[in-house]
Amino acid sequence: MKVNIKTDSITKISSDVITLGVDDKNQIIDSAKLDKKTVKYLNNILALGDISEQLGSARVVYGDHFYPKVLLIRIGDPKKLTPNHFYSAILSVANELKSLQFKSLLIPINQFINESLSSLKVSEYLVRGLMDAYYAVNSLKTLNTVKKKIFQTTIHYKGSDLNQVKIGIKHGAAVMQGGNLTKDLGNLPPNICTPKYLANVAIKLGKEYKFKVSVLDQKKIEKLKMGSFLAVAKGSREEPRFIIMEHNKGPKNQKPIVLVGKGITFDAGGISIKPSADMDEMKYDMGGAASVMGVMKTVGTLNLKLNIIAIIPSCENLPDGLAVKPGDIVTSMSGQTIEILNTDAEGRLILCDALTYAERYKPEIVIDIATLTGACVIGLGHHATGLFSNHDPLAAEIEVAGIRALDKAWKMPLWEEYQPQLNSNFADMANIGGRAGGSITAACFLSRFAKKFNWAHLDIAGTAWKSGKEKGSTGRPVPLLSQFLIKRAGK
Ligand code: BES
Ligand code: MN
Ligand code: ZN
Repeated sequence: MKVNIKTDSITKISSDVITLGVDDKNQIIDSAKLDKKTVKYLNNILALGDISEQLGSARVVYGDHFYPKVLLIRIGDPKKLTPNHFYSAILSVANELKSLQFKSLLIPINQFINESLSSLKVSEYLVRGLMDAYYAVNSLKTLNTVKKKIFQTTIHYKGSDLNQVKIGIKHGAAVMQGGNLTKDLGNLPPNICTPKYLANVAIKLGKEYKFKVSVLDQKKIEKLKMGSFLAVAKGSREEPRFIIMEHNKGPKNQKPIVLVGKGITFDAGGISIKPSADMDEMKYDMGGAASVMGVMKTVGTLNLKLNIIAIIPSCENLPDGLAVKPGDIVTSMSGQTIEILNTDAEGRLILCDALTYAERYKPEIVIDIATLTGACVIGLGHHATGLFSNHDPLAAEIEVAGIRALDKAWKMPLWEEYQPQLNSNFADMANIGGRAGGSITAACFLSRFAKKFNWAHLDIAGTAWKSGKEKGSTGRPVPLLSQFLIKRAGK
C-alpha cells in the first residue's frame, strides 16, 4: 500500500474515492472544510435516511465530479469516537472498498481526532487497519485467484502535529508488515512450513535486517542436553531446529529482551493423539514462533535501538514407534526431570529448554509466546491473550501495550497454590496438572524454568487464529509486542 500525506486545502485534491464520517446528527463531519456544495449534496442524501445508525457501518454514494465516489462511514459523535470503534470503522471501510473500482483513496483525518484519538493514533490505526484488511492469503489456490488491487492512499491533515502523523504512518505500516508475515507463516500448510522452513525464514530475515542468525540442528541440540525438547521431536521424521535471531542495536551494556516462540509446526498430540476433527488447525501451533518472527520484522523495519534476542524451538508433535510415551521421564536442559503424562502437553516441553537456554543472555526480561492451552480459549475466548508473569511491573507494562495496540492481554494468576498440581511420584514434576486451571498450571510449569529472570508468558491459543468461514491466522500478538518494544525504545 502506498500512503502519502497532503496538507493543502482539500478542495484542491482530487481522488477517485473520499472517505467521510457521518455524525450522530446524520451530518457529514466536515473537519476538512470541503466545498459547501459537496457538503450540502451529501447531507441531502443523508437526510433520505438510508445510512444505518450502526457505528462503523459504511456505504458508498456517488458524488459530484471532484470525488466520483464518497464512502460514508457512521462515526457517531466524533468527540466520543474510541480507538476500538475507529479501528473497526476502518476495517469496514476497507471491506466496502473491496467492491469498488478505484485507483486513489483520500481520507481526511482531522474528522477522527479527539481526546482519546491523537493524530498519531489515528494515522497509525488507519494504516494498520487498511493493511490488515487488505492482507491476502498467500494462497496455493490455482483456480479463481483474486488479483491484488493496488491503490494510492492520501491522508489529508491540517494542524501542527504533522510529524506525529508521519510517525503514526511509519509505525502502523511496520507493525502490519510484521503482522502480515505472521499471518503468512500461520496460514502455510504444515507440509511446507516445517522447522527447516522456519529456519530459512529466519535466515532470510537476518539478511534483510542484519540480524545475527544461528540455526542449531539435532546434533547441536543434543549437545546442549535439551532432553525435554528432543523428547517431543523424537516422534517425527522432520528434524527439529533451534533458531536464534539477534538484533543488537541497543547500547552495548544494555541487557537484552528475549522473545521465545513456540514453534510446533504440527501438533497431532503425539501418542496422546488428538481427535481428528479440526486437527488441520494444529498447523498454527507455531503461532508463537510466527509472531516472534513477525515482531522481528517490525523491529528490523523500524531499526529499534534495543538489544533483542528471538529464540524459537521448532519441531513436530506426532505419534510414531519412536515417539515419547506417557510415563516416560526426561531430563530437561536445566537438570530438572519431567514425567510426561500426556504427550499432547508438548509446548511446555519445548519451551522449558528454550527458557533455560535464554539464561546465557543474562536477559533484562524474557517473554514467551505460545499457543499453549485449549483451557486458555475456554477461559478467555478469542478476545484476550492470557498473560502470566513472575514480575508484576512487567505484566502491567504488557497490559498497557496491549490496550494501546488494540491487542489486549488479560492477567491471570500464577499463585504458588497451583504448583502442587504438577507433583509427580517419580520425577521432579509432571507435565500436566489436571483439568482444573489448565492454562495456569501450564504457566506454573514454565515458571519453574524462569526463576533467573523477569518473565512473562503469553498464551495465544485463543487469539492467534480464527476458525470457521474466515479460518486463518490473525497476526496477533504482533501489535502488542511491537508496541511494547517501541515504547521501550523510547519512540
Ligand atoms: N497446541 C495445543 C493447545 C491448543 C489447543 C492451541 C487448542 C490452540 C487451540 C497444546 O499443545 C495442547 O495440546 N494442549 C493440551 C494440554 C493438555 C493435554 C494438558 C490442551 O490444551 O488440551
Ligand atoms: Mn499439544
Ligand atoms: Zn501444541
